[in-house]
Amino acid sequence: MPSRLSESDSAALASHALSYVRPGQVIGLGSGQAAWAFVHELGRAVQAGLRVTAVPTSEATATLARRLGIPLVSLDDAPSIDVTLDGADEVDARLDLIKGYGGALVREKIVAAASRRLVILVGREKIVPMLGTRGRLPIEVVPFGAGFCRRRLAAEGYPPVVRTDGGTPAVSDNGNLILDCTVHRIADAAGVDEKLRAIPGVVGTGLFVGMAHTVLVWDEGRVTTMSRPEG
Ligand code: A5P
Repeated sequence: MPSRLSESDSAALASHALSYVRPGQVIGLGSGQAAWAFVHELGRAVQAGLRVTAVPTSEATATLARRLGIPLVSLDDAPSIDVTLDGADEVDARLDLIKGYGGALVREKIVAAASRRLVILVGREKIVPMLGTRGRLPIEVVPFGAGFCRRRLAAEGYPPVVRTDGGTPAVSDNGNLILDCTVHRIADAAGVDEKLRAIPGVVGTGLFVGMAHTVLVWDEGRVTTMSRPEG
């Protein structure tokens, strides 16, 4: 199994991803190492004169983008996004994804849903034969319902642990908790997503089904492009 992308590999992948951006577009900015490498590339392009506006998927991404001089807009002001560039934690052959190891899954899914095109940047180690291969599915829940959601998820066969940060529960940008569920290979990602979202208190799951159009994979020094199969 190849190791995680190095900083220079992320930068090379991000530089390739810049070819998906056109002047005047509204760009969705993801969260995580690969997405932030792209934000740096976009920032350089903006400083060199490219005119775009961007919608960030997390407070961390917003802070970085502002620092780099990328003009930001809210989703209310830009209800349609031309293209979003983001990372992922698992990618299968259908281009379905698991996201959220970085905790920004809910805003990432909203921005992805508002985007005409979702381009995912990953290293080869994120390509899996079936979602769930890495054994973890993040789920965001309302704090009031956390105990209830934990019991329901365990009963459904997805035992969760509350994600922590420095010894206390990690709080998402939406003020919610993240439950990391143990999963095994997920054969029916759409069905599992629907079942888990039906639990009262669940805000969103890290399953992104049918959302990605293109996945750029950094593999031994070059970029390969995966496109979503038709149908
Ligand atoms: C953030 O919530 C996640 O969905 C990230 O997009 C995902 O964890 C990939 O991050 P890296 O590029 O840091 O691996």
